[in-house]
Amino acid sequence: MNNPPLLTQDGRTLAEVRADFPMLQASENERPLIYFNSGATSLKPESVLQAMTEYYRSYGVNVARGVDAIGYKATNAFESVRAQTAHFIGARQAHEIVFTRNTTEALNLIAYSYGDAHVEAGDEIVVSETEHHANYVPWQELAKRRRAKLIVVKPDSNGTVTPALLEAALSPRTKIVALFHVSNVLGASNDLKALAALAHTAGAVLVADGAQGIVHSRPAVADWDVDFYAFSAHKLCGPTGLGLLYGKQTLLAEMAPWQFGGEMIDVVDVFDSTFAEAPQRFEAGTMAIAEVIGWGEAMRYIDRIGYDFIHTQNLRLATRLVEGLQRLDTVEIYNPHNAANAVVAYNIKGVHPHDAAGIYDREGISIRAGHHCNQPTMRFLGVQSTLRASLSFYNTPEEVDHFLEVSTKAGDFLDVLF
Ligand SMILES: Cc1ncc(COP(=O)(O)O)c(C=O)c1O
Repeated sequence: MNNPPLLTQDGRTLAEVRADFPMLQASENERPLIYFNSGATSLKPESVLQAMTEYYRSYGVNVARGVDAIGYKATNAFESVRAQTAHFIGARQAHEIVFTRNTTEALNLIAYSYGDAHVEAGDEIVVSETEHHANYVPWQELAKRRRAKLIVVKPDSNGTVTPALLEAALSPRTKIVALFHVSNVLGASNDLKALAALAHTAGAVLVADGAQGIVHSRPAVADWDVDFYAFSAHKLCGPTGLGLLYGKQTLLAEMAPWQFGGEMIDVVDVFDSTFAEAPQRFEAGTMAIAEVIGWGEAMRYIDRIGYDFIHTQNLRLATRLVEGLQRLDTVEIYNPHNAANAVVAYNIKGVHPHDAAGIYDREGISIRAGHHCNQPTMRFLGVQSTLRASLSFYNTPEEVDHFLEVSTKAGDFLDVLF
């Protein structure tokens, strides 16, 4: 059955959208690249590259350091992206947005700055059994530093941490609940609004790892009442090297800086210093200015595409892919029910994922094989590693069909090789 044609928010077709991405003209092993690894990083549209080049070519000076007109232009461009990000994710105020290097650094910032100040010996930190390493190891380390207890919640069979599961893990000693918004392996979604409300009843804060969540739907951080929400620009058409951290103003205002140096300072005396207000107190040194400007354009690009287009494309493509794989008895799928988030974790029976990925690669298809920086989820699934196809709104049904043909061949691995 053919789906009706889909148009972006600004009335364009998928073919027109694909023309925005220079990498979709690239080849892999002399075949047109089929990029099914967007969960690792998304491709970048030309307009984002142009915005960054334009900064370097015509106003590429440092921010908050000059009183000249060009310095103001760069500073205004940089700071306007803070306000734009706040609006994009439903935060109330621009100064609730901190620029970091990536999601990983944002989560570490919370663990050191909020965690070290609030977690005492015997307190509890709740995570799930299926967190990405970036939202697992910082809490493990915090627990060790503070002699606190790490409570690890097992999600339901779909990979979701339901409110009931979280409720059972909370206690009066819980200080931090750190959970994914969308899982990078199972594509499961957590209901952050319900989970935040529960965490608050226990007197804890909710830290949300939004690295994959931001890709699939627009967050509403103030409405959901999450305390922190961390994500990376590079997963949603933006540049690498830039993370975004939302923190409630009341929390950021009382948190201590965790890195020290230029621009995060107020007064530097001989033996002591005072620090700037949040968010600048968390932004030591020269920031990723071109990347911030590129991220501003990425948000404008996503607004032109629209999350409705993204959602419908993902759902159609991933459903086609899952249904195709389900017809192959050589394939085991670990998350058949999460197509909306366009991540499919699977294995080809009897074939090591790295060998299988090599077969896809020879056919021009880029997918991921391994533990996906998520060994906890591998333990949850009882496997060493998996294949992962992660799709995006710029993929096509024809690409999915080619992927399914190669998956059929890969099921007969020895025949393919010899
Ligand atoms: C769910 C999740 N959390 C955190 C991260 C870490 O993101 P980054 O490498 O940009 O810090 C990723 C990246 O794959 C992810 O998928």
